Amino acid sequence: MIDSLDSLREEMLARIEQSGSEAEIEQIRVEALGRKGRLTLLLRGLKDLPSDERPRVGEQLNALRQLLETRLQDRLQIVKAQQKEKALREEFIDVTLPGNRGESGHIHPLTLVIDEIIDIFRGMGFEIARGPDIEDDYHNFEALNIPKDHPARDMQDTFFVSDGRLLRTHTSPVQIRTMESRKPPLQVIVPGAVYRHDDDATHSPMFHQVEGFMVDGNIAFSDLKGVLTHFLQRMFSEKAGVRFRPSFFPFTEPSAEIDIQCVICSGDGQAIQQRYCRVCKGSGWLEILGAGMIDPGVFKFVGYDPERVSGFAFGMGVERIAMLKYGIDDIRLFFQNDLRFLRQFG
Ligand code: DAH
Repeated sequence: MIDSLDSLREEMLARIEQSGSEAEIEQIRVEALGRKGRLTLLLRGLKDLPSDERPRVGEQLNALRQLLETRLQDRLQIVKAQQKEKALREEFIDVTLPGNRGESGHIHPLTLVIDEIIDIFRGMGFEIARGPDIEDDYHNFEALNIPKDHPARDMQDTFFVSDGRLLRTHTSPVQIRTMESRKPPLQVIVPGAVYRHDDDATHSPMFHQVEGFMVDGNIAFSDLKGVLTHFLQRMFSEKAGVRFRPSFFPFTEPSAEIDIQCVICSGDGQAIQQRYCRVCKGSGWLEILGAGMIDPGVFKFVGYDPERVSGFAFGMGVERIAMLKYGIDDIRLFFQNDLRFLRQFG
C-alpha cells in the first residue's frame, strides 16, 4: 500500500509538472481526486485495512491529497500566466504603425451631371419618369410624328433588335408613354440611356439624354424660354447668354435649337491669347438643347385634344453637357473606367 502510494505520488507530480494547459490539469485532477479518482478509491478502501494500520495510511493518503491539490493549484497559476504572456505577445498591436487607408468610391461624372440636371428641374416642380430601353417602332417613331419613310428617320441610326423592336434612339418615346397613361397637367423629366449606331471621339453607341416636357391647358413658348434659360444659367453660369434658333423636329412645332455662350471663350470665339476657340469652333456659341411646342399631331396619337391642351418638350445630351462643363474632349473617357480619369471627380 505504501509502495503504491509512493509511485502514485511520483507519477502524478511528474504529470503535473509537464502539463501545459488548463484542460490537461483538470484531467489530472479528475483522474487523481475526482469521485472515481485513484486517490479517492484508496481513501475509500481505508475501512478495509486492519484498524492499527488505518491512522498511519490515512495520514499519508491525506498528506498526498493535500500535496496534489497544492501542486495542481500552483501549476494552474503558472499555466494561466504563461497563456496570458503568450496572448500579450501574439496579440500585440503597434498603435504607432500607419493605418490602412480606406478606399472611397466616386460618383461617376455622368451621374454627377444627371443628378445636377434632376436637381435643377425638381426645383421647378418637375417629376421624374422612366421608360424601357428596348422600344417598339410605334413609341420611338410613329407616335412622335415620324412615319415610316419619313426622312427624319435618317437622322438616327437605329439598332434593331428582333420582332421589329429596337433600342430607343432617344428618350422622347417616354413622352408618349407618359401621356398615354396620364392626363395633364404634366411636368416631367426623363433621364436615361439611348442608343445609336455611331462611334467616334464625340459619339458613343450608348449615351444619355434627359428629356423634359410640360403639358397643361395653356402652356406657351414663353414658358419654354423661361424654364430652359433658368436651367442653362443654373447649370453653366448665371452670366451666360442663351439664344433660341429656329429648327425642325417632327414632334414639335415650332421647334428650336438652344445655344449657350461658349463656356471656354465666354462667347468671344477667340480663345485665350487670340487663338481660335476649338470648343465652339470660333462661333462663340454651343448648341445644347433641342426643343419646341409639342406638335398637335403627337397629342392626337395619345388621345389629347390639341384644342384644349398645349405643351413644350425638350431633349439634351448628358455626355455633351458633361464634356463642356468639365472640358473633356473625348466621349470614350466616360466608358473606359480608367481610375485616373474617374478620380478627378471625387
Ligand atoms: N429627341 C431629339 C433627339 O434625340 C431631341 C429632342 C428635340 C427632344 C426636341 C425633344 C424636342 O423633346 O422637343 O435628337
